[in-house]
Amino acid sequence: MKHPFATTLLRWYATHGRDLPWRHTADPYAIWLSEVILQQTRIEQGRDYWRRMMERFPNVASLAAASEDEVLRLWQGLGYYSRARNLHAAARQIVEMGEFPHTIAGIKQLKGVGDYTAAAIGSIAFNLPAAVVDGNVYRVLSRHFGIHTPINSTEGKKEFALLAQELLPGHQAAAYNQAIMDFGALQCTPKAPNCPDCPLADTCRALHAHEVDILPVKLKKLAIRTRRMQYVYVRVNGEIAIRRRPAGDIWQGLWEPLLFEDDQLPPMEGRLTLLRKGVKHVLTHRILYADFYLLEADTRPTLPSDFVWIPEGELDRYALPRLVEMLVKEVKCREK
Ligand code: ADE
Repeated sequence: MKHPFATTLLRWYATHGRDLPWRHTADPYAIWLSEVILQQTRIEQGRDYWRRMMERFPNVASLAAASEDEVLRLWQGLGYYSRARNLHAAARQIVEMGEFPHTIAGIKQLKGVGDYTAAAIGSIAFNLPAAVVDGNVYRVLSRHFGIHTPINSTEGKKEFALLAQELLPGHQAAAYNQAIMDFGALQCTPKAPNCPDCPLADTCRALHAHEVDILPVKLKKLAIRTRRMQYVYVRVNGEIAIRRRPAGDIWQGLWEPLLFEDDQLPPMEGRLTLLRKGVKHVLTHRILYADFYLLEADTRPTLPSDFVWIPEGELDRYALPRLVEMLVKEVKCREK
């Protein structure tokens, strides 16, 4: 057998592969959208977002024609909002190109598309022979072939990319790539993989060396820093003050109420209520601890010039970070 590893995976996939909505289409736009959503999102959550996006933007032209605000609003809750901004920008690129690019190099020209996404779209939509390397692939390959090179080292990335490409059966790239990802997600899981019932157990180096739970090896990152945030929801005569978050920080382009990052709130006119204290919110490189306040006043306080006053009922037209959504929920809860 030329590719025993690939053959076994493909056979496993034929019976165990997941039935996902974007697996019923060959539309590169739909597949691209699914891959961007799944970059940092679990399949179960991603499925709903994919359906909603496909409903509102059934093709690349409709996405390109939308405003960035609307795209961000549909994306709300998924996090990593640069994905949505890039998606929108790339839709406009594709419209300009005249068609969806169908080479790996062409797909990689799209904003927000790196090696993984280009290989995923290229193989799944066009059956191009490009191997995907994601967390699942690192895990399956490091275990099966007993590779201890750290997966987040330069050397490791190269080594795994080469091996993944070598193992790829050229004419079945679409099925194989999805097979190895599903295998990592369902069978060769990070914790408690199903080794007793694994079709690749015979040739699995990690299993025979009792190293399944130490592979893949990953270099430790620097400690994650914390950040304290105090949000004040300012309400004056049924209007509230919000601003758009600037570039160069988290949540670029999303909207938020008044924020203080110092320890103490400055004195403010009006009735100040503490709604919640020490709300923990975890991002990739930060842990946030937030306090939520409501300030009800009779006259508008003077705020920095980037704030706008909007009727409170119109807030749902604005894209908000999850943390701010939680604050809004607290305010609403209080008034029920
Ligand atoms: N994770 C991200 N994209 C995937 C895909 N196409 N199949 C399985 N898991 C995935």
